[in-house]
Amino acid sequence: MNVGVAGLGRMGAAIAKRLMEVGHQVTVWNRTAGKTKTLVDAGAKAAGSPEELANQVDVIISILTDAPAIETVYSGKSGLLSGNVKGKLFIEMSTVRPETEVALAKKVVAKGAAMVECPVGGTVGPALQGKLLGLAGGEVSDVARARPLLEQMCRRVDHVGPIGAGASMKLAINLPLAVFWQAFGEAYALCKHLGGETGWLVELFADTSGGPNVLKARGPVVAAALRGAEPGAATFDCDSIRKDLRTMVEEAHARGFDLPLAERTLAVYDEASKKGWGKRDCTEIPVYWADKKK
Ligand SMILES: NC(=O)c1ccc[n+]([C@@H]2O[C@H](COP(=O)([O-])OP(=O)(O)OC[C@H]3O[C@@H](n4cnc5c(N)ncnc54)[C@H](OP(=O)(O)O)[C@@H]3O)[C@@H](O)[C@H]2O)c1
Repeated sequence: MNVGVAGLGRMGAAIAKRLMEVGHQVTVWNRTAGKTKTLVDAGAKAAGSPEELANQVDVIISILTDAPAIETVYSGKSGLLSGNVKGKLFIEMSTVRPETEVALAKKVVAKGAAMVECPVGGTVGPALQGKLLGLAGGEVSDVARARPLLEQMCRRVDHVGPIGAGASMKLAINLPLAVFWQAFGEAYALCKHLGGETGWLVELFADTSGGPNVLKARGPVVAAALRGAEPGAATFDCDSIRKDLRTMVEEAHARGFDLPLAERTLAVYDEASKKGWGKRDCTEIPVYWADKKK
């Protein structure tokens, strides 16, 4: 299949690579054009604009930072929706508020195309292996049309409801994860002085009732971060968690309720970001708190 990927950030680049590996002809576009090079060297085609990308492929995947990025890439000058998109399928995978996906889907449908949203759980490693968790929203027939492709990107795809439902579910599943990194930092601060070997410590936490899956999945990386080892490239950084928390809080306020824990966590991450931790991986965030003195 001719698949287009708009947005070659950490996730988009990994998804494009995965789709090439399972045999698709992939065309890519990214605002910062230099990021297409590795994929083009591996056999992808590069489009000069989102419009050109939409003209060249049957299915267009987008995974971008936030709502303003979606607005620019879809509806800006030479945007995806300026292309010949009649009958084509869009799969929008960014983490944004439901209203962003609902508004976008209306524009896509007005152009005679179909749209499924499918924000994902999992980071770069699972994206490269086709093991993301897909939270699909859309019409039953559109999700059925997208499913074969989604199943090449995801270990599990749940159709959670109409457009917007995937975004709601994605914000929901990321909340405990965002709070967890801070909770783990506070927990580590309580036991750091014991000087336990960090691999053992992470494994012990992972074996308790409060130990989330991420400690099993990324245990060695978390242990290395606690040891102060040289970190690799960030896959999900503190500033991205802040963006997600802000989006959750905005969504809750729009629905008429507060998220006290998320709001407090956001304040702590804002502070960490101001002190230079914004681009550091989530697995390093506990270290910020544990090393901080009153
Ligand atoms: N990283 C993860 O583990 C993870 C996991 C699940 C979901 N997500 C979600 O997936 C989305 C992408 O995340 P990521 O980690 O891949 O982010 P990233 O590495 O920061 O990449 C962001 C992408 O959005 C593009 N972009 C941002 N603003 C733009 C604008 N105004 N116009 C055009 N393009 C714009 C960037 O283009 P440039 O390269 O030109 O800056 C880049 O391609 C986010 O919504 C994130 O919350 C991330």
